[in-house]
Amino acid sequence: VNREAAAIAHPNIALSKYWGKRAVPGNFPAVPSLSMTLSGLATRTRVGFGNEPGPDELRLNGERAAGEPLARVTEMLDRVRAAARITGRAKIETANDFPTASGLASSASGFAALAVAATRAAGLQWDSWRVSDLARRSSASAARSLFGGLVELPAGEFAPSEDTLLAARPVLPASALDLRVIVCVTTDAPKAHGSSNAMRKTAEKSRLYGAWLNLAPSLHESLKEAALAGDWMRVGELAEDSALAMHGCALAAGFSYFRDATMMAIETVRGLRQQGMPIFFTVDAGPHVKAFVESAHAPRAAQALNDVPGVLRTTLCAPGDGAAVVEDA
Ligand code: PMV
Repeated sequence: VNREAAAIAHPNIALSKYWGKRAVPGNFPAVPSLSMTLSGLATRTRVGFGNEPGPDELRLNGERAAGEPLARVTEMLDRVRAAARITGRAKIETANDFPTASGLASSASGFAALAVAATRAAGLQWDSWRVSDLARRSSASAARSLFGGLVELPAGEFAPSEDTLLAARPVLPASALDLRVIVCVTTDAPKAHGSSNAMRKTAEKSRLYGAWLNLAPSLHESLKEAALAGDWMRVGELAEDSALAMHGCALAAGFSYFRDATMMAIETVRGLRQQGMPIFFTVDAGPHVKAFVESAHAPRAAQALNDVPGVLRTTLCAPGDGAAVVEDA
């Protein structure tokens, strides 16, 4: 191994949701999205390119990985090798400091860290914009983890060519956000359906898909405007609208992610808000609830959510920074 680099990246949670892809190759989202990058939880990834061609070697949380996870890693590394004109096989070591069943998708932080480490190891002098585009091709939410704070990923053009660039961009820095996220874990079971497959089936089968494609861009723009104006109550209202519309659309194609504990945690968030607490919820493609709350109220909100029957545990996260090379690794 002669070219090595390591990187760190954090998960993010979308306030305006990405659900649906353009009907062309290249993994272009059909709708814009806006997320908050989290601190605390991280993926750390080291990539080393050797001189010999051959299959890449992936270690995930200390275990040798093959099959689909390795194929997705090799797919990204092939793009990096082509751009850097190198052919050697890579050794990749990656680890999450949060458990897989933590209620947080590890694909966002995972592919963001891999994109940063691999481009650096290959000697590519790419800016964050190019690296975000690379991450997006593997997992669109990963494009957003390149940046800290509030981050936006625009929709792909209506008919992009496969090599059209599409990257996320920062909207507000982490230091400008007085928010905390309480992740309410409702099960330790692994994710029921992969999001790419669920999105494809939603586009095929959901009679609400057209309505979602019409609604999502305007929800997104209003939410971004409210965030830039510091109107967090309005952000919360729109974030809940986005999550519920996304789930309604997916439900109409047979994807029901909510469980009893999901509904009870949502009711608890609504109850706290009725008592005057600035708090709102979102739900991704799984049964866990993520509550956003002003930092001063986070301890009381976490306690109330911990007491919800069916909520196994909660994790409290602050706004975090974008992905970065770890220099002294
Ligand atoms: O980027 P993916 O394939 O992990 O899909 C993410 C989909 C949601 O988490 C449900 C929404 C989002 O915008 O993050």
